[in-house]
Amino acid sequence: MVLDNKLIDRLIAAGQSHLIKFFDTLDEAGQQRYAAELAGIDWDLLQELIKSHVMQKPVIDLPEDLTPAPYFPLQPRSEAEKSYYLQADAAGEELLRTGKVAALTVAGGQGSRLGFDGPKGTYPIAPVSGKTLFQYFAESLLSASRKYNTTLHWYIMTSVVNDGATREFFADNNYFGMSRDQIHFFTQGFMPAIGYDGKLLMSSTGSLALSPDGHGGTLLALRKSGMLDDMKMRGIEFLSYFQVDNPLVPVVDKRFIGLHKLENSEMSAITLAKTNAFEKVGNFCVADNRLYVIEYSDLPEALATQVDENGQLKFIAGSPAIHVISRSFVERLTASGRLQLDWHRADKKIQCIDSNGQSVNVTEPNGVKLESFIFDALKLADKTMIFEADRKEEFAPTKNATGVDSVESCRAMLIDRDARRLERCGVTVPRRADGSPDVTVEISPLAIWDDEDCAEYVKKHQIHALDAGSVNYLV
Ligand code: UD1
Repeated sequence: MVLDNKLIDRLIAAGQSHLIKFFDTLDEAGQQRYAAELAGIDWDLLQELIKSHVMQKPVIDLPEDLTPAPYFPLQPRSEAEKSYYLQADAAGEELLRTGKVAALTVAGGQGSRLGFDGPKGTYPIAPVSGKTLFQYFAESLLSASRKYNTTLHWYIMTSVVNDGATREFFADNNYFGMSRDQIHFFTQGFMPAIGYDGKLLMSSTGSLALSPDGHGGTLLALRKSGMLDDMKMRGIEFLSYFQVDNPLVPVVDKRFIGLHKLENSEMSAITLAKTNAFEKVGNFCVADNRLYVIEYSDLPEALATQVDENGQLKFIAGSPAIHVISRSFVERLTASGRLQLDWHRADKKIQCIDSNGQSVNVTEPNGVKLESFIFDALKLADKTMIFEADRKEEFAPTKNATGVDSVESCRAMLIDRDARRLERCGVTVPRRADGSPDVTVEISPLAIWDDEDCAEYVKKHQIHALDAGSVNYLV
């Protein structure tokens, strides 16, 4: 096979002729595959990005006059707000019952920090049963479907690095009891990784080092994959968006969904009070009447540490990356078939070959991956809404093997959430001096979705107290 001359000229002009050095050594199928890969690259965009994001550190163009973003507090501040929340509950429940809501999970990331080889959703997280993240979400959706007498659809975004393995995992596990047509996989776009000299890295003699284009890629991928049409056909109007790393997330939250609707919001967000000025979460900020999420690494220290007259952080509103997004908003943003959210640079160790085609032993960051972030869409929304949540009830990310946001802390939070639920239903749970439950307990989302289910369950099974040190699995 011969390469298209225009492409060759283009690569030479862009200083990327090394990419075709081994082309003649590939077999026919390899040549075809690689030629298609090269042809699929937006070279104009890439050349711009190499200049702006690789050959120099991109300028973080923060808007001036950033102020903390206002939000609806977890506890209503007045009787009027209380009744508004009840109105939101009813509106959210109605949307759920009438099939207007679907779940959307971003699961295209590489999860390298966890040190787990495989799609992150296949990580066994549950403290007693060892259920995986995916199973936890699937069972929560089944339970919520039962509660609202509907069939909740689940859209799952994968990427070039884990699409096959993810689909296989679901098939091998019989879709965790969900019906096959309730689950919709779609694959996000990718970007080539670039060395510090501005040259694209190759993972083998016949392929580029590609990586997912960030969760900002979700929006365009929804359109390109036909998922927007699929949702429209099913009458789905709102997407309950969450990350694959957070098993504590309420997969659908009627109050949050209801507030989104009542506020005519295009994209809404959950916020949590940050644990400290530098917690590794995005920060909700406002400038020019637009809502921004500024990553912890980009928020200037002077702002991050500002306190009010009570000594509380001014920029207290952190992002657990939980959103409600209107389908119509995604349609509007992607109508042209292109969506250019900002690009962000990440310096990474990237597996690649050298100029002789030999695999390089990479021990230090050797290049740049480019990603876009979904929360950058907030500033493009005409109307947004933020609602505060209780961290203990909604946010236990599994990002690291140990320490903060780890498997260990996530399991402890899952146990604590389930222990609190049992306590609210009158069960005595032994606690240690530091307040943590002195039991291991796991409630299957299939058996119990909310406090109402839990109260029925403990009554039916006559559970009054858990024994200190015991292991309990409520199914
Ligand atoms: C992310 C957010 C941060 C938020 C925190 C909450 C970013 C840049 N930051 O941090 O604001 O406070 O979560 O936990 O996202 N993903 C894809 N495709 C990709 C990249 C990621 O689907 O190309 C998915 C991952 O599978 C994961 C999620 O996006 O579900 C988050 O990705 P990750 O890189 O772990 O984000 P964090 O830096 O932890």
